[in-house]
Amino acid sequence: MDHNSVDTKESEPRAPETETYDVVGIGFGPSNLSLAIALEEGPEPVTARFFERQPSLRWHQGMLMPSAKMQVSFLKDLATFRNPTSAFSFVAYLHDTGRLAQFVNNCDFFPTRREFHSYLEWAESKVRHRVSYGTEVSAIEPVTDPGTGAVDRLRVVLRDEAGTRQVEARNVVVSTGLVPRMPVGLERDEHVWHSSAFLHNFRAWKKGGLKRVAVVGAGQSAAEIVRFLYDTVPDATVHAILPSYGYAIADNTPFANEVFDPAAVDDFYRGTQRAKDAIWRYHKNTNYSVVDDEVIRDLYRRASDDETEGRQRLRFARLSRVVDAKRVAQHTRVTVHSLIDDDTYDLDVDVLVCATGYDPMDPAGILTGLEGRLSQDDDGRYRIARDYRLLGADDLTCGIYLQGGAEHTHGLSSSLLSNIAVRSGEIAHSIVTGRTAAQERGVPA
Ligand code: FDA
Ligand code: NAP
Repeated sequence: MDHNSVDTKESEPRAPETETYDVVGIGFGPSNLSLAIALEEGPEPVTARFFERQPSLRWHQGMLMPSAKMQVSFLKDLATFRNPTSAFSFVAYLHDTGRLAQFVNNCDFFPTRREFHSYLEWAESKVRHRVSYGTEVSAIEPVTDPGTGAVDRLRVVLRDEAGTRQVEARNVVVSTGLVPRMPVGLERDEHVWHSSAFLHNFRAWKKGGLKRVAVVGAGQSAAEIVRFLYDTVPDATVHAILPSYGYAIADNTPFANEVFDPAAVDDFYRGTQRAKDAIWRYHKNTNYSVVDDEVIRDLYRRASDDETEGRQRLRFARLSRVVDAKRVAQHTRVTVHSLIDDDTYDLDVDVLVCATGYDPMDPAGILTGLEGRLSQDDDGRYRIARDYRLLGADDLTCGIYLQGGAEHTHGLSSSLLSNIAVRSGEIAHSIVTGRTAAQERGVPA
């Protein structure tokens, strides 16, 4: 055990051979990094340990293209909305690294993703002693107190290069992130990539061999990849297969943006099902299947410059979906269905990139040991209290919290960065005090 990692509480009994923590975090992306900071800045010391399967903090590295910008204001960082005077804020990072003046001179609320990644690494370096990297959580199982019969702890089963081991926790916070989604029937291979691993695959690809590429999707990932390929591989023809007629803009206007405010989580949570449905219906275009204005304009400029030069390196298949892909001789044969003439045709390319989005975080795979103890709605989704704690049987006295996977109860910001500082604060508060900040504001759990 890394003794630096744990604030020991002498008064608390421990099983002789198993480390027991107040909080175990599963996954160490921005959400649980934000939680580690909230615990660090909290009023009471808690023992906390985070387990991350990657070898270091890596935030969507397969999409970390040089020109890609953040889709959220720098002020919606790991801490500011919870604690505007935090030493972990993006502004503190800029100051610490001597970049505050330059950032301000840019007059841009949206840093590049690379700059934000550098901020995440800077913040992570201050809490790294609480994290075990290269460690995957494979299961969470109940531990029953022999005296009371209550499940007051959880056994967290870990796998790392040394083998399998376990720790125990009074609370776990699951934050394992989005799950890449492929088109139905398509499998990833050397020639068929998902956008989440785009840069890794691109760098591994033999140089000079990329003449024809197809990119499926009309979301931010697809548009950024099309732009990157067009700029980086000067000889390649890039086929953009769009389910829409053209890229549609991500609504980032102020009234719509309020849907990501902390207060909107309360409104969504206590809203009727019709209210929840309406929020999704009206405001899905703030985030899904949409593209930032700047990237759309970049692409259109490139396409129109090409026309002027008498070239056509960017080709758009409109109102089209990919229905199949298979290897034929040296090519990947992509079968495309066009809605315009209801026609299906084949397109031969070197590589197919599926920028086809993600499924929400699904903690069910590691919670199988608690089946029957966790409450679910009619659609089989977990019931989640306002403080992000899973609702369950009366004898479940330990806490299981989710960061992500709460789109049905807490709304659009569930999978995003917008609210992580406040959400982490609410979870930390709930763990430390046993009371929820939302309950204190009068929002029913
Ligand atoms: P995240 O996915 O970042 O981290 C989860 C971590 O858990 C990963 O490091 C993973 O390795 C680990 N893990 C998974 N299973 C594990 C297991 N069993 N054991 C141990 N570790 C495990 N949102 C936004 O608001 N603004 C933005 O600008 C962007 N930009 C953006 C770019 C791209 C390319 C994508 C795909 C998404 C975004 N997002 C976004 C949305 C995105 O969900 C968000 O930025 C964060 O990644 C959410 O942070 P989390 O920590 O919840 O998940
Ligand atoms: P997305 O927004 O869900 O878009 C997926 C796209 O793929 C949609 O246009 C979808 O069309 C299309 N699609 C799915 N199956 C298809 C098929 N068989 N044929 C053709 N098209 C198909 O996913 P994303 O672009 O990866 O974005 C996911 C999240 O990451 C968002 O929150 C986004 O903001 C974020 N992101 C941020 C950045 C950044 O910060 N710079 C970069 C990339 C991504 P339908 O909608 O019709 O199914």
